[in-house]
Amino acid sequence: MAESQLSSKHVLGIKYLNINDINLIFETADNFKEVINRPIKKVPSLRDVTVANLFFENSTRTRISFELAEKRLSADIVNFSASSSSVKKGETLLDTVNNILSMKVDMVVMRHPAPGAPAFLANHIDASIINAGDGTHEHPTQALLDAYSMREKMGDLAGKKIAIFGDILHSRVALSNIFCLQKLGAEVTVCGPPTLIPKNIDKLGVGVEYNVKKTLEWCDVANILRIQLERQDIKYFPSLREYAQYFGINKKLLNGLNSEVIIMHPGPINRGVEITSDVADSDQSIILQQVENGVAIRMAILYLLAAQR
Ligand code: CP
Repeated sequence: MAESQLSSKHVLGIKYLNINDINLIFETADNFKEVINRPIKKVPSLRDVTVANLFFENSTRTRISFELAEKRLSADIVNFSASSSSVKKGETLLDTVNNILSMKVDMVVMRHPAPGAPAFLANHIDASIINAGDGTHEHPTQALLDAYSMREKMGDLAGKKIAIFGDILHSRVALSNIFCLQKLGAEVTVCGPPTLIPKNIDKLGVGVEYNVKKTLEWCDVANILRIQLERQDIKYFPSLREYAQYFGINKKLLNGLNSEVIIMHPGPINRGVEITSDVADSDQSIILQQVENGVAIRMAILYLLAAQR
């Protein structure tokens, strides 16, 4: 039985959550999943709570998912996008946030290209902060919705074999997934070109593989990551065509396996590069269930943090 409140007033990374926190978020998300499948999807839990969604970097899923979660909980919302703000005039992160908070904001959801930006803010302001992705560091709500979706499909994750494929080097999803899955007792292996696997990642207790077929034969779940071209300052592989040939997951590969692997991807997808459409859209894929579960997970986190205030 999980504790009834989170161990921190912020969700900055999976690194800082304990197993009770994770189980409590999952149990609370179970309740909210039932709520969002009702004809009337709204509950008054966050009435009189104001949430600022501060997005200093592009997002589709995470931004919309948080906004929907907040609306379903009846919170008041302000949305901030760096591209149309005074950040463009040279305002600092702290000045921007302090100005927003002086308008009586209780919680901040923040995506930022700099690793550690949400933790920096948490040291300087009173509001609860939720990290919606900080550079190449962590994306805790993505890892929680990923693990929740795996658990929904397979039950307890203890002893389950999860492979994370692709651009591990530039991925915040990979690190948060590794922390979350290990806390839940799963075995994790990363697989991709050697240039996109961080040196010493094995020190985190994960397996490292470079052979996609061998890794697919080993795993119960294949979580396939996007090639993050926008973060790649040098060439890490000769061409996208070659990447797709040697590291892309396609139907022919899956058809050659002895058992059916669950296919996941956090999105956005580069169709035909890390995953083909016939895999992304197949019955083995739970990509859209991940997105659906994201709203329930984010409702749970917002609700649990608000309860501490
Ligand atoms: N998975 C994810 O973080 O997607 P967005 O960048 O669209 O939010």
